[in-house]
Amino acid sequence: MKKARIAIMVSGGGTNLQALIDAEQNGIISSGKICLVISNNAGAFALERAKNASIDTAVVLKSDLGSQEAFEGRIKEYLTEYQIDFIVLAGFMSILSESFTREYPRRIINVHPSLIPAFCGKGFYGLRVHQAAIDYGVKLTGATVHFVNEVPDGGEIIMQKAVKIRENDTPETLQKRVMRLAEWKILPESVEKVCAELVRKD
Ligand code: GAR
Repeated sequence: MKKARIAIMVSGGGTNLQALIDAEQNGIISSGKICLVISNNAGAFALERAKNASIDTAVVLKSDLGSQEAFEGRIKEYLTEYQIDFIVLAGFMSILSESFTREYPRRIINVHPSLIPAFCGKGFYGLRVHQAAIDYGVKLTGATVHFVNEVPDGGEIIMQKAVKIRENDTPETLQKRVMRLAEWKILPESVEKVCAELVRKD
């Protein structure tokens, strides 16, 4: 059976990448194959996770390339070289330009650690999202997986899962619970859903 060729883009610890690697190994992801991990941070622990799973890695640094255009150009070269069908942003902390996202319509997805449209868009990433939810005093937060378009965190929603906020939560405790109860579940499920559709259409 044909599988969609997947690239995962990361910047940091890579726990979502690990959830995707595990999901491919245990069959939750069966319509896609993780072929490449791209990081915009040479020190990302996510790169170790990829190497441990024998997945090819590429590091693309904006500081080396000078401009957003050159940065995205190098990423596109890797995507072409590896014949990538589908891109997953899994803790990728850099916003991609409209000209990049337009080239891959409904072929890029992102996981965001809140219930979009709350606490999302420019400036909301990582622990800042959880700090904002605690500061606002919401009682429920969660995670969202969505298609990526030209609006940061604005593309069509694929899956969401809610998580309760506890009175004594810190951004760190909340982040861990949202990852464990929501992100690590809905990201692999969404990847399988979209890859299955892509494979069916081909
Ligand atoms: C995750 O919580 C992810 O949802 C978030 O960063 C963390 C990355 O962790 N992404 C964003 O905030 C994007 N706007 P990980 O590297 O362990 O997967």
